[in-house]
Amino acid sequence: MTILVTGGAGYIGSHTCVELLQKGYEVVIADNFVNSSMDVPERIARITGKMPKVFELDVADSHALDLVFAENHIGAVIHFAGLKAVGESCQIPLRYYRNNLDTTLTLLETMERHGCKKLVFSSSATVYGPKNECPYTEDMPTSATNPYGWTKVMIEQILRDYCAANPEFSAVLLRYFNPIGAHESGLLGDDPNGIPNNLMPYVARVAAGQLPRLTVFGDDYPTRDGSCLRDYLHVVDLAKGHLSALEYAASHTGAEAFNLGTGEGISVLELVHSFQEVNGVPVPFVIGGRRDGDLAEVYANPSRAREELHWTAEKTLDDMCRDSWHFIQTRKAER
Ligand code: WQD
Repeated sequence: MTILVTGGAGYIGSHTCVELLQKGYEVVIADNFVNSSMDVPERIARITGKMPKVFELDVADSHALDLVFAENHIGAVIHFAGLKAVGESCQIPLRYYRNNLDTTLTLLETMERHGCKKLVFSSSATVYGPKNECPYTEDMPTSATNPYGWTKVMIEQILRDYCAANPEFSAVLLRYFNPIGAHESGLLGDDPNGIPNNLMPYVARVAAGQLPRLTVFGDDYPTRDGSCLRDYLHVVDLAKGHLSALEYAASHTGAEAFNLGTGEGISVLELVHSFQEVNGVPVPFVIGGRRDGDLAEVYANPSRAREELHWTAEKTLDDMCRDSWHFIQTRKAER
């Protein structure tokens, strides 16, 4: 079966393409490369021995997307394409609403024209908002505190309504917790442009001497060591969750949400400690003030994915720290 992966050159998308190719799927990537580098498809080929087909396009471009479906028999779509920086979304909300909603609506209209009825959607734990208590479960009410999060809440609603009107359609909404780590080859990883917003790429760059020190955003939270807890999972485990979701979509219809997390909360200080221990490299840090919008704890109840998708995260925090360090070391050696 041929799978269209929108945003397939991105961090999670590229790791998912590797798993798809290694499982025997044909892969078509549609990406505008605004947030990913042009050499990612070639890296995917170096890992798997198979080159995905690549269409450089904006998924909101209906004509361009139509050609992709016309030229390839797309059996299902995994939809990653979208803008995803929380802070940036507060500065340019219209760009986020236009981009994230337009890409999704154009994709659904194109899928409908071509009779494609299976979609896996890249959602986020951010849809649990600030009011729910951890561990989060999929039946909890959703909300958001920033435009990025609202686009995820809105797209989940669009997919529910579309499934209600089209009973043969299957939409699997995957709510990611905190994906970190890199492919063991060192060829793929989280390599954001500019200064990273997220913790692990920032820690890796401090360890590599590319940034002077980490600022821990607050150690006065009501947690075991005062720093925030997050549910970190290895990006390869997350990628494998998408294959489980495809298999689920093949035998189900309707819109169903699943948490992809470990169910464990790890603190910022514990992650920094693990990174130093596993890799034998110092990560200088200072304690700073809290970051606006941060919650003390965010972690999943992952039992629904375990029971219905037959998926659990297997890699450890040490694996995540080791692979992140190997990735940045490989990147440095390539330069
Ligand atoms: C993790 C922890 C920070 C950087 C975000 C999005 C979420 C999802 C994943 C898209 C927090 C602390 C961070 C730093 C720090 N993205 N931190 N110093 O905020 O849990 O989730 O990314 O779906 O939607 O909200 O991830 O990696 O930014 O932060 O102390 O320099 O690390 O305060 O406690 P977050 P993060």
